[in-house]
Amino acid sequence: MKVLGILGSPRVGGNSDILLDQALAGAKEAGAEVEKIILCQKKITGCLNCEKCNETGVCVIKDDMLEIHKKLLEANGIIHSVPVYFWAMTSQMKAYLDRWCAFFDAEWRWHKAYYPKMKGKRIGVITVCGDSNVSTADPIVHSFKSTADFSKLKWVGAVQISAAARGEVAKNEKAKKEAYELGKKAASS
Ligand SMILES: Cc1cc2nc3c(=O)[nH]c(=O)nc-3n(C[C@H](O)[C@H](O)[C@H](O)COP(=O)(O)O)c2cc1C
Repeated sequence: MKVLGILGSPRVGGNSDILLDQALAGAKEAGAEVEKIILCQKKITGCLNCEKCNETGVCVIKDDMLEIHKKLLEANGIIHSVPVYFWAMTSQMKAYLDRWCAFFDAEWRWHKAYYPKMKGKRIGVITVCGDSNVSTADPIVHSFKSTADFSKLKWVGAVQISAAARGEVAKNEKAKKEAYELGKKAASS
């Protein structure tokens, strides 16, 4: 059992990072092997919509996403953690998510080779916003949940937290517990 944590904030040690660590601690407690990928430390270009991957299942862009594709295939659960930037996900997370394109054929079905590995894979998201109204992150949740729904991944849920200053969420025990529980869910079979 492996759970992958994907950090979409460029503020390493910030709120999304703290909550992702909590989620990965929960997954570890549930028996999973865990790994965190910090997207801002990777080179990930946006999808070119060249459609080559529709045939091959392999992206033409030779950057760090190729290695992340392999890790995504091997993981049993994936937890994303990302702040709201201008009512949307960060550019780092969006570039990563768009590159999932390579997993699908022209009809947006999993490529045959990937289907056995992707079917039923657990996926969830943690959002952090400066706004006191956490639903300002709903568009991000919508992106991830819709991705899960159309491709038949197993949605384990969203944790939506409000925090603005760097590391402020460390004092929010309720938020940390919610993230921890989400991580446990990502690791359960
Ligand atoms: C470029 C930028 C845009 C932001 N836009 C929003 C926004 O639209 N709504 C919001 O509630 N917070 C917004 N924020 C605040 C962050 O979501 C907030 O500071 C969050 O705690 C950052 O999380 P992090 O510590 O994980 O990076 C923005 C911050 C930055 C730097």
